[in-house]
Amino acid sequence: MRIIVKENYDEMSKAATNIVAGQLYIKPDSILGLATGSTPEGLYKNLVKVHETVGLDFSKVVTFNLDEYYNLPRENPQSYHYFMNEHLFSKVNINLENTYIPDGMTEDLDIECKNYDDLIEKMGNIDLQILGIGQNAHIGFNEPDIKFEATTHLVKLDDETIEANSRFFTSKKEVPEYAISMGIKNIMLAKKIILLASGENKAEAIYKTVLGSVRPDAPASILQLHRDVVIILDKDAAKLLPENLIEK
Ligand code: GLP
Repeated sequence: MRIIVKENYDEMSKAATNIVAGQLYIKPDSILGLATGSTPEGLYKNLVKVHETVGLDFSKVVTFNLDEYYNLPRENPQSYHYFMNEHLFSKVNINLENTYIPDGMTEDLDIECKNYDDLIEKMGNIDLQILGIGQNAHIGFNEPDIKFEATTHLVKLDDETIEANSRFFTSKKEVPEYAISMGIKNIMLAKKIILLASGENKAEAIYKTVLGSVRPDAPASILQLHRDVVIILDKDAAKLLPENLIEK
């Protein structure tokens, strides 16, 4: 794991932007794994800027989002479909037919999950996966569990996650209780992974990710077993990590 610590959120977002933009320059038909939440917003904003100013090209890019709320229509402003359109897809020259997000309104969950897995595999797996992290160390919506769920699946969200995400909804009651999420194997098969975290409330999750035992009750800890992970943090999120682990 490479661990990069930046002064603040903006610097963290810039460092992530350089990696993603670099990936697209080298391989314009990259398959990107995308995350939602407030953490990658700065990254998406910067990518839009790079597209507008120097023409970063998304025309051949394929994307797979990590997750979507279950039973929340895509027109709902809190859906991840809506988020991606608002923050990235509507602002760059991506072909919407190449953007994939689990269908939270599916009538057949098993088929939806299997098709998602099959498509990722058929495309040759993800080149660069972008991750945020939950306060309970979840990645995507892979909540702490007694085992690592390998493939795309339905998740019952933890109360802690519902609480944390209620800030986007008018009340906690409106946060969906379930979501569809890529599994740990889908994520681990990505060729390269970057994980972003900002703020003191992520410090413990980051500590467990980097230094905890690899256990399904801290899902992000599995990343210790991946050979190309870059963790990009701001100072607050890095607060519990020993200096010697941080890249100079
Ligand atoms: C959400 C998403 C994750 C995200 C995490 C942290 O529930 N499913 O992909 O990384 O929680 O969100 P935030 O960046 O808003 O703290």
